[in-house]
Amino acid sequence: MTATADNDAGLSPEQWGILAAIAGAFVPSCTSLNGNRLLQNPLPPQVYDSLCQRIQQNVGQNDDQELVAKFMAESATSQPAFQAAITDLVKLYMPDEAKKGLFFILKALNTRAGSLVLTGYATSLDCLPVADRQQILQSWATSRLPFFRNLHKSLSALVRSFWLRTSANLRAVIDCPERPVHNPPPKAFHPFEFIQFASTSLSEPDVIEADVVIVGSGCGGAVAAKTLAEAGLNVIVVDKSYYWTPQMLPLTEASGLASLFENGGTILSDDASMTVVAGSAWGGGGTVNWSASLQTQSFVRREWSQKFGLPYFTTSAFQDDLDKVCERMGVGTSAIEHNKGNRALLEGARKLGFTVKPVPQNTGGEAHNCGYCTLGCGSCGKKGPTESWLPDAAKAGARFIEGFNVSEVTFADTKTGGNRIVTGVKGTWTSRDGNGKVAGSDRRIRQVIIKAPRVVASMGTLGSPLLLKRSGLTNSHIGRHLHLHPASIVGAVWDEDVRPWEGPILTSVCTEFENLDGEGYGAKLEATAMIPSLFLTAFPWRDGLHFKETASKMKRMTGYISLARDRYGGRVFPDPIDGRCRIRYTTNKYDQRHILEGIAGLSQMLYVEGAREIHTSIPGLDPFVRPSDEPNSKITVARKEQPSINDEEFKAWLAKMHHVGVGDTPFASAHQMGTCRMGSDASNSVIGPNGQVWGTKGLYVADASAFPSASGVNPMITTMAISRGIARGIAKDAGVNVGTAGLTKL
Ligand SMILES: Cc1cc2nc3c(=O)[nH]c(=O)nc-3n(C[C@H](O)[C@H](O)[C@H](O)COP(=O)(O)OP(=O)(O)OC[C@H]3O[C@@H](n4cnc5c(N)ncnc54)[C@H](O)[C@@H]3O)c2cc1C
Ligand SMILES: *[C@@H]1O[C@H](CO)[C@@H](O)[C@H](O)[C@H]1NC(C)=O
Ligand SMILES: *[C@@H]1O[C@H](CO)[C@@H](O)[C@H](O)[C@H]1NC(C)=O
Repeated sequence: MTATADNDAGLSPEQWGILAAIAGAFVPSCTSLNGNRLLQNPLPPQVYDSLCQRIQQNVGQNDDQELVAKFMAESATSQPAFQAAITDLVKLYMPDEAKKGLFFILKALNTRAGSLVLTGYATSLDCLPVADRQQILQSWATSRLPFFRNLHKSLSALVRSFWLRTSANLRAVIDCPERPVHNPPPKAFHPFEFIQFASTSLSEPDVIEADVVIVGSGCGGAVAAKTLAEAGLNVIVVDKSYYWTPQMLPLTEASGLASLFENGGTILSDDASMTVVAGSAWGGGGTVNWSASLQTQSFVRREWSQKFGLPYFTTSAFQDDLDKVCERMGVGTSAIEHNKGNRALLEGARKLGFTVKPVPQNTGGEAHNCGYCTLGCGSCGKKGPTESWLPDAAKAGARFIEGFNVSEVTFADTKTGGNRIVTGVKGTWTSRDGNGKVAGSDRRIRQVIIKAPRVVASMGTLGSPLLLKRSGLTNSHIGRHLHLHPASIVGAVWDEDVRPWEGPILTSVCTEFENLDGEGYGAKLEATAMIPSLFLTAFPWRDGLHFKETASKMKRMTGYISLARDRYGGRVFPDPIDGRCRIRYTTNKYDQRHILEGIAGLSQMLYVEGAREIHTSIPGLDPFVRPSDEPNSKITVARKEQPSINDEEFKAWLAKMHHVGVGDTPFASAHQMGTCRMGSDASNSVIGPNGQVWGTKGLYVADASAFPSASGVNPMITTMAISRGIARGIAKDAGVNVGTAGLTKL
């Protein structure tokens, strides 16, 4: 069967041809002098040799020239895995409208008229030399028309990200193994048992019963599961994703992002300005998060209490919920061994008098030096849902279902007091394949109904509001007030190797800029995970050579985020055609100013710490490069003993940064909040103070979507505490009681 341009199919050969031509220009094959200019980017020997030399230096001493030559010769499309990954993306993960947009552009680029309009050439892209194609991509980046800038942004992110995941030589060049080297062997872990459905009758759905069904096994769902199961309720926890044993983790970059994250690792906001990552696995975001365990701050708690009429947040009951979740996971700072990236943040801030502190980790009081947690933690060191809450719940009798995609909440025909009465959920269960994996074609699919008088939606901020909508609820706040903590990445290049993927990921935070408006809004500065495809795509693409050279430096780089507590929000809604989650969100200028202040602050810290280069993701702002003190370098300004943020070159660069601004910068978010927000009545919120959805009896939301506004801190602990509070309430209403000193049935 040949591929067609039909929207259900992948790319046609013609469309792939154009996309490959674009990819081969973003990440070109570079050769010296001779080469096919349609396939390669032949360079003058001097340029080629000096670039090879510089990359060689980045590779280090036990390099081999062949490796560098192979790296230079590699293009985005060299590996079949690249095309396979893009094909999967288009087929499985792109919302219909985005797919249509992409197909439209690729089709236009295949015609003379379309080419002329889009590229200025009547020749189609795949018949143009690589060098000309690069020029076209550059002209898109600097176009006055946002359409072209967005096109550049999305295509350059797409191509670079998938090349970084599939490259044959990158990991050898930067010496970053696919799996951590110093990882301790896994400790005993909890073997989960999952309910299996026999294929008795294919037409009739399977039906099971429970007191409570919890949809989503992430941070919110897992805590609710333990709390409710220990209170004596018959609990079932379901997740559409699957469990990965510690032995299987971390996954490789390519498969980890595809298997452990929502939508294959990539969700773009409609305007392509924001990349959203959300975990989707047994354990939810807790399986991939970075152990940062910060409690909700007082100014946020006050806002939630006063502005939203939710006194719970200023009570000691909430504090107790925070403390209890931290206690269970052994949250603390005592065992932290900061890596270079975090040390630079702590020390740089100290030198400038900025407020900075270590970030407590949920690692049970032990050091947890695993920079790979984003791809799943193989050590059991991180006391996430799969190591703490879910095993506790199992011990108290909770049952689990993996691979169960809940499609809707069911209600009784009658109402009580005007409220719809919950009767359970229904959805589709997909078994593992014969090998216990999830890729085979021999997987069974069953319709399953769970009957329960209480349903807790813990599907996360992107999932829960969509379930409510699919179930026929119409409150206009559902899906609105989306907060994302938009973050912008800053990278530093050091003179020495720092191997940034080693050591813990996020162990320090600078709070100097967290309250820039006097009302609790500003930016936090934190270290970030150093996964090549997530990190290196953040920086503007200038040309193929520059990109490859920057990538080759990653072993000497550390990365940071300036993350805003966003005052203004967006919304999520189901794609009208395929129902998947769409995100409408544009970072507000108000929040952008805060992010910019944060980027400037980070740069100052890195400068006084002696970073050689400082990279931002601001298009149009070249990286700051500290003048070299090497004798054979062209610029021979001595390196200052005591760098000061008043140094002229640095000051000039900061001024340029403020001039350019972050308007066109790509942002990223690992923190989604607020789409089923809690409030004092249905006119301002989706759920009430007890977590129950307005207009229903028995439907609750317990996850990050319940936040009244952005939490300001990394949301896990707040999510867990709120979920514990809501679950305590449910238990109480059900006639069981969760006391602080233990559990007692009433
Ligand atoms: C890479 C990364 C690093 C992070 N690091 C930190 C950190 O260090 N500190 C911190 O505080 N926060 C961190 N976070 C954020 C944190 O993980 C989230 O805020 C938290 O997981 C939110 O919990 P939740 O219960 O709302 O949703 P989740 O934990 O995302 O759980 C939702 C679950 O619901 C399931 N689901 C969705 N739809 C359905 C359906 N239809 N049927 C069945 N199941 C469904 C999903 O598969 C998922 O497992 C990080 C996030 C990411 C992505
Ligand atoms: C990461 O996930 C675990 C749960 O998996 C959670 O306990 C922890 O708090 C999360 N992150 C943080 C907040 O470190
Ligand atoms: C899960 O169910 C929803 C709603 O029925 C549907 O839109 C979605 O495509 C399903 N997801 C998967 C992975 O099957």
